Amino acid sequence: MTTVLLLGSGGREHALGRALAPDSTLHVAPGNPGLAGLGTCHDVDASDPDAVVTLAHEVAADLVVIGPEAPLVAGVADALREAGFPCFGPSAEAARLEGSKAFAKQVMEAAGVPTATARVCTTADEAEAALDEFGAPHVVKNDGLAAGKGVVVTSDRAAALAHAKTCGTVVIEEYLDGPEVSLFAICDGVTAVPLLPAQDFKRAGDGDTGPNTGGMGAYCPLPWAPEGLVDQIMAEVIQPTLAEMRRRGTPFVGLLYAGLALTGRGLRVVEFNVRFGDPETQAVLALLETPLVDVLAAAARGELATLPPLSWRDGAAVVVVEAAEGYPGTPTAGGTIALPADTEQAWTVHAGTRMEGEQFVASGGRVLGIVGLGEDLEAARTQAYAHLAQVDYADGFHRSDIGVPH
Ligand code: AMP
Ligand code: GLY
Repeated sequence: MTTVLLLGSGGREHALGRALAPDSTLHVAPGNPGLAGLGTCHDVDASDPDAVVTLAHEVAADLVVIGPEAPLVAGVADALREAGFPCFGPSAEAARLEGSKAFAKQVMEAAGVPTATARVCTTADEAEAALDEFGAPHVVKNDGLAAGKGVVVTSDRAAALAHAKTCGTVVIEEYLDGPEVSLFAICDGVTAVPLLPAQDFKRAGDGDTGPNTGGMGAYCPLPWAPEGLVDQIMAEVIQPTLAEMRRRGTPFVGLLYAGLALTGRGLRVVEFNVRFGDPETQAVLALLETPLVDVLAAAARGELATLPPLSWRDGAAVVVVEAAEGYPGTPTAGGTIALPADTEQAWTVHAGTRMEGEQFVASGGRVLGIVGLGEDLEAARTQAYAHLAQVDYADGFHRSDIGVPH
């Protein structure tokens, strides 16, 4: 058995934990009530490099898997590697692909990766000029990490400018029209292995209305994807980016997440993230048959080239997020939750819950993810929503159109 230390506490980490647990002894920091059923949770700050290295020694970790972006940007992977631990997650320098949108644009330009034309602005005058250059709809992005709240897409110029003024450094770019795809590539610095493509539902309301969120649901794979899409993304986006990061002396080891728009003029990168996406991971890993620990360990050790091809189960997976009223603003905390038993076809992922005595209560914006499996997308949707109907959580809301391609 491999001893794995997993960092994080959300729905993505619960999904990672579910996929790792059958083949490993799992330790998690800090974890959540779902993860507590899979391994040992430790009350350690995942973004504190010294505390994480100490814990990795204590549990004698064979592999450390870093879930969220904050510890990566804080250099936790660097500290672990220095201490000799195989680690799945990029260095702080490589994590700037997510940590700074301006940096990501520079890398894409150098690597010839197609993305929206953008201006990096530091003053209101520059922002106004960029808004007028590109016209509506306006896309305004905080340069730094903003927990899913940094991007405003609006046709209201005043609202676009107001967001720009709150950001300090801001990236303003052309609007990309077309369906979005999330592709995750497992990387060891040189070799990259794609997972199945997924689609995320970013807006809070049905029909893609309401504010942007961290993601209200996802499905995988994409029955409508053009033939050869994954190969094309690997060739035009992932491989050139890996090569550019290597050239800079900061090879990328971990998960490179390309958020793409398939526009009328071809594919364009909307964003890079440097970790598994949330909630797409809940759907993607539901279909992975290869033991996840083998894949992540091979990446951490620079041995992906020797890994046999990944094996996937047939069919589709859907995850529907149940969020607390108020999300993505101020979510209502403390609502009590009663859950149906997990089945082979549908189960609950804990995203923002905690225990109060014997009771699950809400403690975050995105509270639960309900995963459904089926022989096709429609069957998977049916499973997920039927399971969700049995969840007793009065303070929650969800979208009813997750899994309907958009
Ligand atoms: P990001 O944090 O960069 O993923 O942006 C969040 C969401 O905003 C994306 O998933 C898109 O739906 C939307 N978005 C970001 N950039 C653009 C763009 N250039 N054109 C249209 N929509 C965008
Ligand atoms: N699903 C979007 C994200 O993880 O950033």
